[in-house]
Amino acid sequence: MKISSKLSEVREYEERMGDRIADSDRPAFHLSSRVGWMNDPNGFSFYQGKYHLFYQYFPYNTVWGPCHWGHAVSEDLIHWEYLPATLAPDEEYDKDGCFSGSAADLPDGRQMLIYTGVLKKEMEDGSFRELQQQCLAFGDGLNYEKYDQNPILTKKDLPEGCSAYDFRDPKIWKEEDGTYRMVACCATPGRDARIVMFSSQDGIRWGKGQLLIQNFDRFGKVWECPDFFRMDGKWILLTSPMDMLPEGFEYHNGNGTLCLIGDYDEEKGVFTPQHDQSIDYGIDFYATQTILSPDGRRIMIAWMQNWDTTPGYRLDPTSWFGQMTIPRELSIQNGRLYQWPVRELEQIRRNRILYENVYVNGEMELDGITGRCVDLEIEVRSADPNHPYGKFVIKFAAGGRYYTMLSYHPEDCIMKIDRKFSGSRRAIIHQRRAEVPSENGTVRIRLILDRYSAEAFINGGAQTITANLYTDMGARRITFSAQGAVSMNLVKYDLIP
Ligand code: FRU
Repeated sequence: MKISSKLSEVREYEERMGDRIADSDRPAFHLSSRVGWMNDPNGFSFYQGKYHLFYQYFPYNTVWGPCHWGHAVSEDLIHWEYLPATLAPDEEYDKDGCFSGSAADLPDGRQMLIYTGVLKKEMEDGSFRELQQQCLAFGDGLNYEKYDQNPILTKKDLPEGCSAYDFRDPKIWKEEDGTYRMVACCATPGRDARIVMFSSQDGIRWGKGQLLIQNFDRFGKVWECPDFFRMDGKWILLTSPMDMLPEGFEYHNGNGTLCLIGDYDEEKGVFTPQHDQSIDYGIDFYATQTILSPDGRRIMIAWMQNWDTTPGYRLDPTSWFGQMTIPRELSIQNGRLYQWPVRELEQIRRNRILYENVYVNGEMELDGITGRCVDLEIEVRSADPNHPYGKFVIKFAAGGRYYTMLSYHPEDCIMKIDRKFSGSRRAIIHQRRAEVPSENGTVRIRLILDRYSAEAFINGGAQTITANLYTDMGARRITFSAQGAVSMNLVKYDLIP
């Protein structure tokens, strides 16, 4: 198989430099870039007995640069092993980046990657714009060769009124009859989002795209990284809109996430949403991608970062930057998207500690409840049903000058994450609020901590709140406090991969 000199250089570089990063300086069970920059998950798939996860990758620095595809594999979605980088921007049609895409099996046993080739074009006024076209590569789970007929989808394959400069992030899947479908991010020249759907008999030759849905200025601008699938009797579109305007506590400004739940008329090719929500209500979450696991679970992973909070970190360019969320099992319950950490995470739970009916009033700590790689489930309720409590707070990664906290106000049903005192030295967003309904203030929180991140799954996964924190590892304390009287049940495990 032909390996370009650009790809060989990257492979040599990442092996040499990636090995210099100590395991203890990375997340313990979240995938981080082998070296340098990581953004979106790509090509999330189960192929030849293993989960494969590729990612947007610029190994030579800890800031975004011309995109390659990094690659890792796992048997259980928890322990990841790096494989050599897969794609480099080494052809004329993708010389400015191999942008996001996905993977599917071919009948002959090969795996196919579909990605966006980016090529900067000079405009008449001398400015440059990124021409975006879809490309293929075929491989064996380790090495992939780009298709000699690339690009396979260009502006001429799009419905009328779609721009050639916002046509990216193809997400492919195989139907039961062996044919292929794909959705991609598109937009009008004014950047109003459109999702376009394509069909193919063999995954290689595709017909003209059909408009699945248009934004009409409702949720931000371009909808990046779309994913479309059936689940629990509904059709779900997950996407990450750029340039959102805020709406209550549901959507925040900037780069957000959107889940649309509805019906899909296959005859007419039209998707009609009945319900919309954010996918995650935290600070660092973007660019989701899902797979159907061999045992039929719909599993989602996302970039545990957000474009709005990445600028300005001063990092050693030979370190890592960017991590993925814990893979999450999805379901639809009462018209809402629910998320729960993949059950495989339970296999690395150790040292169970249980407390029941702990009375919390003022700030307290509990014996054995500390750590930065932790799975903590708590149920909080008013200690006196006739007197609702005012506020409940859990602080974690606490010590010295540092802590990050989750707080809940039952009266206005607001859960807040605040990492202002996490050790951040940048004027980025540090707080975010989410609406969390509860009855009499009873809430359940499952908090997953892994060195540099916190993911909270609220009320069985009806809401999730994700943020990263680069707090000094010495800050390991966990404290609880309440205004008013709270009774709390708690189970804690250390997570030891
Ligand atoms: C989303 C995104 C994608 C694009 C990729 C480039 O985070 O902007 O739309 O393919 O990142 O790295």
